[in-house]
Amino acid sequence: DVVIGTAVAGGGHHLEQDYPDPFTSDGRYRRVLAQQFSSVSPENQMKWEYLRPERDRYDFAMADRIVDFAERNGQAVRGHTLLWHSQNPAWLEEGDFTDAELREILHDHITTVVGRYAGRIDQWDVTNEIFDEAGQLRTEENIWLRELGPGIIADAFRWAHEADPHAELFLNDYGVEEANAKSDAYYDLAQQLLADGVPLHGFSTQAHLSLDYPFPHGLEDNLRRFDDLGLATAVTEMDVRMNVPENGRPTRAQLREQADYYRQGLSACLAVEGCDSFTIWGFTDKYSWVPVFFEGEGSATVMTDDYTRKPAYYSLWSTL
Ligand code: XIL
Repeated sequence: DVVIGTAVAGGGHHLEQDYPDPFTSDGRYRRVLAQQFSSVSPENQMKWEYLRPERDRYDFAMADRIVDFAERNGQAVRGHTLLWHSQNPAWLEEGDFTDAELREILHDHITTVVGRYAGRIDQWDVTNEIFDEAGQLRTEENIWLRELGPGIIADAFRWAHEADPHAELFLNDYGVEEANAKSDAYYDLAQQLLADGVPLHGFSTQAHLSLDYPFPHGLEDNLRRFDDLGLATAVTEMDVRMNVPENGRPTRAQLREQADYYRQGLSACLAVEGCDSFTIWGFTDKYSWVPVFFEGEGSATVMTDDYTRKPAYYSLWSTL
């Protein structure tokens, strides 16, 4: 059975600095979240910059609230994320650490965070976005790969597995919907890790899509080749952005096309046996990251700012 998930907005990263956290301030938001979804992913709240304000201090307040909420509502949780090049605290990125210290910082983080939620988080994005479009490891941008070398990937998986032997451990990235240089690199890495006995359990694709590009028709086949390796697969962050007309309202044709993208995304996952988790990156445009990150684009989620269901909403729930 596939779980249908959503990112939980908050941490405020792309929202105004003093914007109230939707998860605590918006009752309607919480109701839809509780009623319509069987899985949740913290959009920001488990990233390093939120969990690790200082080297020797963890702040679990926001993350705990989400995990508690999910438990009360019988929802699965996807943990996001442990090893990434982005949204790291300045003390880490700008710090002056020896390799041994950095290793210990990462080991402590994974052990503490994964251990804290052991048994309560179903899937972890252990690594996020470790390859670039050309299929090369991001050794410049990613502090862990740069300072500690590619072997740290296997270590991260091993440490996470020790901390929670029941969590499914994933490689996660964007732009890997179809077979291409980047997803090929994952395919090779996955085979290597499995051959080395590393506890890797899944491969997932974010699926941040745009109506400016055709739907990635190779999605199903691509998920299937990872499935054939014995891995679970997942769609973890789907949204479908578009160029919003000047009046701020998408056309009917745009909304229809968007609905079709969502339908195809979910269908691809449903068609692959081991694809058991399908998550959208937020369910209302009210808190979507898209307008802030992609100029002129928006309307990427399945509900409008005022929670009106779009055709995309109905296409998802009728595809299930
Ligand atoms: C985004 C969040 O939605 C924003 O709030 C934040 O400011 C930046 O990150 N790939 C990922 C997610 O793995 O963590 C990103 O989330 C979107 C792209």
